[in-house]
Amino acid sequence: MTAPAVRLALLGCGTVGAEVVRLLHEQASDLAARVGAPVELAGIAVRRPGRARDVPADPALFTADALGLVKRSDVDVVVEVVGGIEPARTWLVEALRLGKGVVTANKALLAEDGGALHDAAVAGGADLYFEAAVAGAIPLLRPLRESLHGDRITRVTGIVNGTTNFILSAMDTTGAGFAEALEEATALGYAEADPTADVEGFDAAAKAAILASLAFHTRVSAAEVYREGITEITAADVASAREMGCVIKLLCLAEQTGGQAGRAVSVRVHPAMIPRSHPLAAVGGAFNAVFVEADAAGQLMFYGAGAGGAPTASAVLGDIVAVARARVSGPTGQRGQTGLEAYADLPVRPIGQVVTRYHVRLDVADRPGVLATVAGVFARHEVSIATVHQTGRGSEATLVIVTHGAPDAALAATVAELRDLPIVRTVVSVLRVEGGE
Ligand code: NDP
Ligand code: HSE
Repeated sequence: MTAPAVRLALLGCGTVGAEVVRLLHEQASDLAARVGAPVELAGIAVRRPGRARDVPADPALFTADALGLVKRSDVDVVVEVVGGIEPARTWLVEALRLGKGVVTANKALLAEDGGALHDAAVAGGADLYFEAAVAGAIPLLRPLRESLHGDRITRVTGIVNGTTNFILSAMDTTGAGFAEALEEATALGYAEADPTADVEGFDAAAKAAILASLAFHTRVSAAEVYREGITEITAADVASAREMGCVIKLLCLAEQTGGQAGRAVSVRVHPAMIPRSHPLAAVGGAFNAVFVEADAAGQLMFYGAGAGGAPTASAVLGDIVAVARARVSGPTGQRGQTGLEAYADLPVRPIGQVVTRYHVRLDVADRPGVLATVAGVFARHEVSIATVHQTGRGSEATLVIVTHGAPDAALAATVAELRDLPIVRTVVSVLRVEGGE
């Protein structure tokens, strides 16, 4: 005997939602076999229900009343692909409170208030899945919250924004400046008309918060993520990285630091030089990749399409099957376990205490004692120099200094003092260096 259908409320039918509808339609019989029951759309909430849409769904399913649809007694699972904080939070908290399974791709909401969703899932004994919220199609969050649950994750390093990776890859391969590469990304449809969320690192910071929360069992919000974007990266920085055998990437880094007594997490998003031999250096174009380091598993790499309607819908469908199957086969003891349990509750280390290596480029006067004076400033702030490279140009020179690991605050104080030295014409750039020492 076939189990009764699992009925979905789809909230949103845009880039991702339309592909979810298509996949549900095209794969209906496979999905039914995998779930053990048919999976049916009970309704689709959109902003403009009267609009003609090229999706294989009965027009009568469309409504503007998302909350009404969520509350309907014939809805088992709510799939949210609208985005934004409100009204999505109200819809999802209500769904979970009512014990309905929830699947969402909403990174903004999870990064701002994942705790509210987790608490509602616990209260309602409901399932909450959000694989599509980070790195689109790449199976990453389920490995973090399930497959690696017996291990201790120490560090997650990712390229989680396709737009900025496309721009930086173009700058590296063609020598273009930031503005020119952004123009190309916009023309090809990677960058949005307002690219701020991508190029200033807000999108990556939201994803970093979710990754850190899952990896370290600690609630980290987007506001707690240190963030720098890529708008200041110049063609000269990219060329300088190339000379060092490096490439510049916008990285999201989440790590657990300190011993048992002083354990903390640091979570940051910023451009960084990485050696061309690093697995993430080969990730070009708009692709995403995440490098996970764990005590027992060692190093793991996840790679693929981080955005786009169909790739993101693939992750949403995987979650729908997981939630629907649990409803058909009965409670598994998993309900309310979202991966966002914050039992470790570690403090988030301020950026000033985070230890990184730096690449500092200075234009200086080329005369006796300059190098010694500059080195003295680094020494005074206890920043140890690893390499120095000087290129002379008449009475001036460019100095490229790469440091050993030093706290961000010490480097910031060093740079502030360098800027005030009369022999330093300009501090041309300061970039972090990751992966290698
Ligand atoms: P779109 O802007 O393409 O679609 C949004 C949908 O939500 C539209 O169908 C819109 O209705 C509907 N909507 C907006 N406001 C309301 C409202 N108040 N009530 C009911 N429906 C509403 O967004 P995307 O599909 O690109 O993104 C959806 C989610 O997926 C976001 O959280 C995003 O961050 C996430 N995501 C997207 C990726 C991508 O590549 N696009 C990748 C990974 C995650 P209408 O059609 O009438 O305008
Ligand atoms: N704008 C994002 C990117 C896609 O460029 O990767 C959605 O997360």
